[in-house]
Amino acid sequence: MKIEQIKEEALHKLKEAKDVESIKTLSVSYIGRKGILTQYLREIPNLPEEERPKAGKMANELKEIIQKAFDAKIERIEDESHEIDLGIDISIPGRSVQRGTLHPITQITHRICDIFTGLGFDVVEGPEIESDYYNFEALNIPKNHPARDMQDTFYVSENIVLRTHTSPLQVRVMEKQKPPVRIIAPGKVYRCDSDVRHTPMFHQVEGLMVDDMVSFSDLKGILTAFVHQMFDEQTSLRFRPSFFPFTEPSAEVDIVCVICRGKGCRVCSQTGWLEILGSGMVHPKVFENVGYDTTQIRGFAFGMGVERVAMLKYGIDDIRKFFENDVRFLRQF
Ligand code: DAH
Repeated sequence: MKIEQIKEEALHKLKEAKDVESIKTLSVSYIGRKGILTQYLREIPNLPEEERPKAGKMANELKEIIQKAFDAKIERIEDESHEIDLGIDISIPGRSVQRGTLHPITQITHRICDIFTGLGFDVVEGPEIESDYYNFEALNIPKNHPARDMQDTFYVSENIVLRTHTSPLQVRVMEKQKPPVRIIAPGKVYRCDSDVRHTPMFHQVEGLMVDDMVSFSDLKGILTAFVHQMFDEQTSLRFRPSFFPFTEPSAEVDIVCVICRGKGCRVCSQTGWLEILGSGMVHPKVFENVGYDTTQIRGFAFGMGVERVAMLKYGIDDIRKFFENDVRFLRQF
C-alpha cells in the first residue's frame, strides 16, 4: 500500500470511530507493534536505495499525524462525556449578548448637528443650571414680564434656574466672540410641565448666525436646507408670524404633515401642518446686551425641540415613550 493511501484510510476510519475503545483498536492496527504503518516502516530497508530517505521521512511524519489525531479525538470524547456527567448539556445554544444602540434622541441630535456642521455651523454647549440673567434678562425677558409665563421655570434659587431653553447660549457665545458667529447649541432643558406632549426634561437645539449681511431670506434658506435633509426634499415649510422677546420679527416654522402630506389628519389636527421650531431675526436689545453694534450687524436665531423632530420623523404620538426606557420601544431605532 502507498503511504498516501494509508493516511487517507486511517483518517477516514478515525472519523467513523465513535468511542474511545474503537479508536484505541484502530490505533493499534496502524501504529501498534504489528500495525500497518509499523510494517511499512520495517519494509523501508528493502526499497531501492534512492527511495529510502523520502519514504522514511513520509512514514515518520504520518506516524506523528496519526498519533496526534487519535489522541485529540480520544481527549474530545472524554471531555464531552465528562460534561454530560456533570449535567451540562453542551447542545444547548449559547445565550446571545444583547448589543445596545444609541438612544433615538441622541441619534436625532447627532443628525441635526451633522446637517448644520455641513452648513458651516460650529457646535457649542453650555450649563444646564443657568443664571436668571442668561436665561431671561439678556434675552430681553425682564423680571415680571408676561413673556416669562411662556416657560414654566424650575427655580434653584431666586436668581438661578434650570435653563428653560438653549437660547442662553446665544448670549454666552456672543459675549466671548466677535461676529461672524455661526453656531448651534444642543442640550437638555427643563420646564415644569408633563403630559403627552411635554416632559419636565427635554432637548433643544439652538441656532444662531450673525454677520453684517444676514437677512430673513438666509434664515429661510438655512431652515429649508435643514428640513429637506432631515425629512426629505418633498417636505415643504411655511413661516408663520409669531412672537418671541429675543427676536423681531419672529416666526414659527411648520412643515407639511409627514403623515397625511397636507391633506389633514388626526396628527396635524386637520390643518395639514406641524409646528417644528421657533425663529426670527435677533432683537437689537440682545445685541446691545452683548456689546454688538446694532447698526453694523444682523443675525437670525432659531430653536427646535429634538423630541418634537423625532416624533415627527418617526410618527410617535407620546413624548413620554422616549424616557420610559422600554426596550421594546427603543429597539426599533
Ligand atoms: N427659546 C424658544 C423656546 O424655547 C425657541 C426659540 C424661538 C429660539 C425663537 C430661538 C428663536 O432662537 O429665535 O420656546
